[in-house]
Parts: sequence; C-alpha cells; structure tokens
Amino acid sequence: MFKDTVVVVTGAASGIGKQTAIEFARQAAKVVVADIDETSGTAVVADLTRDGHDAIFIRTDLTSEADCRHLITAAAETYGTVDVLVNNAGIEISTPLHEMSEQEWDRLVDTNLKSMFLCSKHALRTMVEANSGVIVNVCSVSGLVAWPGIAAYNATKGGVMMLTKSLAVDYAQYNIRANCVCPSIIDTPMTDTSIGHDASVKEEKAKLNPIGRLGTPEDVANAILFLASEKSSFITGAALTVDGGYTAI
Ligand SMILES: NC(=O)c1ccc[n+]([C@@H]2O[C@H](COP(=O)([O-])OP(=O)(O)OC[C@H]3O[C@@H](n4cnc5c(N)ncnc54)[C@H](O)[C@@H]3O)[C@@H](O)[C@H]2O)c1
Repeated sequence: MFKDTVVVVTGAASGIGKQTAIEFARQAAKVVVADIDETSGTAVVADLTRDGHDAIFIRTDLTSEADCRHLITAAAETYGTVDVLVNNAGIEISTPLHEMSEQEWDRLVDTNLKSMFLCSKHALRTMVEANSGVIVNVCSVSGLVAWPGIAAYNATKGGVMMLTKSLAVDYAQYNIRANCVCPSIIDTPMTDTSIGHDASVKEEKAKLNPIGRLGTPEDVANAILFLASEKSSFITGAALTVDGGYTAI
C-alpha cells in the first residue's frame, strides 16, 4: 500500500514509533527512523534492512530546530521527498503540578509539542511544494480528557490536538491532510516506566478499558497507517481514539 512512499517516524527507536516504522516498512515504504537514542534507533534500522526493507536512521534531538531541519533535509536528500510525517516521540513526567519545576515543564512541552511544530514546519515546506502530504500526530486520550496526576502531560496533548486541527484547516488547500491518534494506555517501555512491570498493576489499568486489555503498539501503528493511507483520503483534522473504549464511558 505504501510502495516507495517516504515516511519519517519520530521516536521510532522504541514502542509505538518502532512498531509504526516496522509496519510501514512491511508495506514497502522507505522509512526514516528518527530518535535521540542512537543505539536503539540504529538497531531498528539494522533489523529492517536485514529483512530487506529500505530504512535509514537519523539521530535527532526533536527539541532542537537545527536537528529537525536536518532530519527533514536528510530524508529528502536520501529519498527525494517526504510524503508522510509521523510525529510520535513523546515523554511523560508525572510530577504533581504544584511541585513541577520550570525545567520539567519546558522539557515536556519541548519534547511533546514543540517537536511536532518543528518537524511539521520543515516537512510542510517540502509538502507544500509537492502539493501533497500527510501528517499523523500521536496524541493521547489525555488530549481529550484529563488523565489524573499528569496535568502538564495532558496540557501538551491538548496542544497536539489543536495543532493537528490547525494543520488540517490551513494546509488542506495544498492537498495535505493532518490527523491524530489518541491511545489510552499502551504496553510500551514508556508505560513500564510510569506504572512498572507488575502484571497485577497492568491488569488493574487494563480494566479501565471496556475491551479489558491494554493496547499494543500494533493497535496504534495500524491506526496510523490507516490515517496515512489513501483509504482515509476524506479524513482530516480528526482525532481517532485507539483506547479500547476508554473515552466512550
Ligand atoms: N504508552 C502509552 O501508554 C501512550 C498512551 C498515549 C499516548 N502515547 C504517546 O505515544 C508516543 C510514543 O510513546 P511510547 O509509549 O511508544 O514511548 P517510548 O518511551 O517507548 O518511546 C518514545 C521514543 O521517543 C524518543 N524520544 C524522547 N525524547 C526525544 C527527543 N527529544 N528527540 C528524539 N527522540 C526522543 C525516545 O528515545 C523513545 O525512543 C508518545 O507521544 C506518547 O505520549 C503513549
């Protein structure tokens, strides 16, 4: 479905981003793996190329405009263009708001929101010129409802939600679509860090979803590929929940 489509995935060294890179590669896309974690990012690309896929790793600190500019330029120089941008990278800091330092707030906002502005800004220059492109942002159910105890994270995801809608409205005239996915808890290294490895804790969290299990990186990657594909050609500015029914209650 994505033969020769050039796809940039941020935060693709781990979790949802890694699985998204794998799924695009399986669909014959040319995949640009961007991450600050050079060891894991290089390993993802080594696995993909060993399996016969076309992929490169570009070390990127997504909080830096110079790095984001370099990411998009290097992708376009290597593969000729950027057709799809998946803004996925994010972090969670769960310090209560009244104890949160300015540095923690800035790190969250820079990683979760500014990074999406910066990568979109530079990818849009290529996409506008091509009169074609798709952006998929990884938001969260916490962009829709306030998840308890992570106020600053929720605020960044609220920003991602409105950035997505604004991209959709402003760039539809250039044949560019922008959508986001809103996962509830997904079983990734981020979740292991925030709730631990204890199976009973994971079972309790899974009960929050009417479907009764945690999401998998594949669940989210599938939704991202749908929003990047021609099958969603009349969908823009949308927030697709991938939450086992969490927000339906
Ligand atoms: N895991 C969940 O339960 C869940 C739920 C909803 C939304 N999300 C969102 O999904 C996205 C991916 O989360 P995940 O669970 O796969 O996390 P993860 O921790 O497994 O992977 C995140 C990746 O982002 C990279 N990264 C972090 N800061 C970076 C920076 N400054 N520059 C470049 N790369 C950077 C990390 O190195 C890592 O490889 C995030 O935006 C997260 O907010 C996750």
